[in-house]
Amino acid sequence: MKKSISILMTLAILIVASCNQPKEEKQATFDVDQAKAALDFSIKQYKGMREIVPDSLIPKSVKDGQLVARGIRDWVSGFYPASLWYLYEYSGDEELKAEAEKRTWLLEPLKDYTGTHDLGFMIYCPFGNAYRITGDEKYVPVIIKGSESLITRFNETAGVIKSWDWTRGDDWTFPVIIDNMMNLEMLLWAYEKSGNEAFKAVSLSHADTTMKHHYRDDYSTWHVIDYDTENGGAKGKMTHQGYSDDSAWARGQVWGLYGYTVMYRQTKDKKYLEQAKKVADFVLNHPNLPEDKIPYWDFNAPDIPNAYRDASSGAIAASALLELSGYVDESLSSFYLDNAHQMLKSLSSPAYLAKLNENGNFILMHGVGHLPGGSEIDAPLSYGDYYFIEALVRYLKMNNAFK
Ligand code: GLY
Repeated sequence: MKKSISILMTLAILIVASCNQPKEEKQATFDVDQAKAALDFSIKQYKGMREIVPDSLIPKSVKDGQLVARGIRDWVSGFYPASLWYLYEYSGDEELKAEAEKRTWLLEPLKDYTGTHDLGFMIYCPFGNAYRITGDEKYVPVIIKGSESLITRFNETAGVIKSWDWTRGDDWTFPVIIDNMMNLEMLLWAYEKSGNEAFKAVSLSHADTTMKHHYRDDYSTWHVIDYDTENGGAKGKMTHQGYSDDSAWARGQVWGLYGYTVMYRQTKDKKYLEQAKKVADFVLNHPNLPEDKIPYWDFNAPDIPNAYRDASSGAIAASALLELSGYVDESLSSFYLDNAHQMLKSLSSPAYLAKLNENGNFILMHGVGHLPGGSEIDAPLSYGDYYFIEALVRYLKMNNAFK
């Protein structure tokens, strides 16, 4: 009897002790050498990519073993040149700079394009990076004009920028997707550069209205909100790329996480920081977030744990969390960093990182573009690569190991 009491007490002490483990003990061991190795690999892979992409096109994914490349109006057109700029910034390699220049200027006509909300991705990622890295003013007018084109899509009554001009049957008339939060960085940058108050007003209105209508009580987000442009407010809440209207499509969650982190950086308004923290809490404490921290394509996919992972969501989240870790108290900061490091460690491992000259020369495997639409399922995605490279660059800069 005495023996079993003492065994029970020992067990109880062990359980209490393990609950009190400081978070640091669970830290992923991602380090500067791993980050540099992943970037060095990315350079080799993208130098190979340069050889196989037609001059007038931009790489997007791989289908049936063949590279998929698209024209400049595809929403992903900014990511390849923008990735090249980061790789040039890291390496100083003039060949990468020449390729980045060439592919960036291919996109210049987009500055007058008013048919999409994705101009932040398409213009700001490449031209913004080019300007930040070279300091050359020639990139600036493209970003300002692109911002003017983007705000033509703003509706005063609804208070948001329209995402898509196409409809899905009668499903919506003024659709706004959570992804649209990613286009506000360009507007806030353009406001600071030009002083045009309209850029700021539109971005604040869009971010505030999205907070009001896009988010559920648990801080997960719907993918699409259909707005009422006569009376304002939401007419419909649904998904397009997620599992169901009520599910949490992974990339949508992390677009919001990244978007509100940027809103806080650019405005210092605490409500955006609180929003980013709440979204991070939903994502990072979700019971369906796997051990390696790379999300399933939808947090409510019915076939979890056999559901596809979306490496792009892991990359976007890692980059956002590295930034967000700089805006919060120490314990939250180390929680965000632990998660971001685990994401980077997973993505840099053979489970997600391609082999040299395979995977259509993309860097990451296992992304999901549009599962319900039957496209880009378990495939490389140019935006997954872009945010992975960005996160690696951020990681090295934060650890004073960039050059
Ligand atoms: N913005 C489209 C996507 O995330 O797939």
